[in-house]
Amino acid sequence: MSDHELRVSKIRNGTVIDHVTGGQALNVLAILGIDGSSGEEVSVGMNVPSDRLGRKDIVKVEGRELSQDEVDVLSLIAPDATINIVSDYEVVDKRRLDRPEFVEGVLSCPNRNCITTDDEPVDSKFEVLNDEVRCVYCETIIRDRLPDHIDT
Ligand code: CTP
Ligand code: ZN
Repeated sequence: MSDHELRVSKIRNGTVIDHVTGGQALNVLAILGIDGSSGEEVSVGMNVPSDRLGRKDIVKVEGRELSQDEVDVLSLIAPDATINIVSDYEVVDKRRLDRPEFVEGVLSCPNRNCITTDDEPVDSKFEVLNDEVRCVYCETIIRDRLPDHIDT
């Protein structure tokens, strides 16, 4: 992409989540627990043209790296995403996402009686299946609208 086409400015230090499935940027922010209230410096591009995907979203977060648990859940809603670590304006690490076997701590179980609900000290853990995820504690399945189950 030539410079005059760059839509969202470069960042100095932080993480660029690129090649996000078009329309998923706000769900990416939810997974990262970003709602703007703590003053995070974030740029978002939605449905911008992409050679590889046709249209893509992009999320740039200044001064922040992602935890493995966050990356694991990201892979479920944006399987083609690239995670770029930026240091002093340079991309120093670039990673594609693997589909994990389990996702821990980011999604919440919809079963009110599950041992992982708010008032219990157990973190959520879901097994990743082909088209759904399944709570390892109570076997509740989440198949549709995964982002609605992001624990914010
Ligand atoms: N980027 C940024 N700030 C920087 C460096 C890079 O916001 N200081 C962004 C770029 O705009 C791009 C992404 O990080 O969206 C990856 O940068 P780079 O690897 O330089 O771009 P490409 O080679 O096009 O990446 P890819 O091959 O993964 O598409
Ligand atoms: Zn459960």
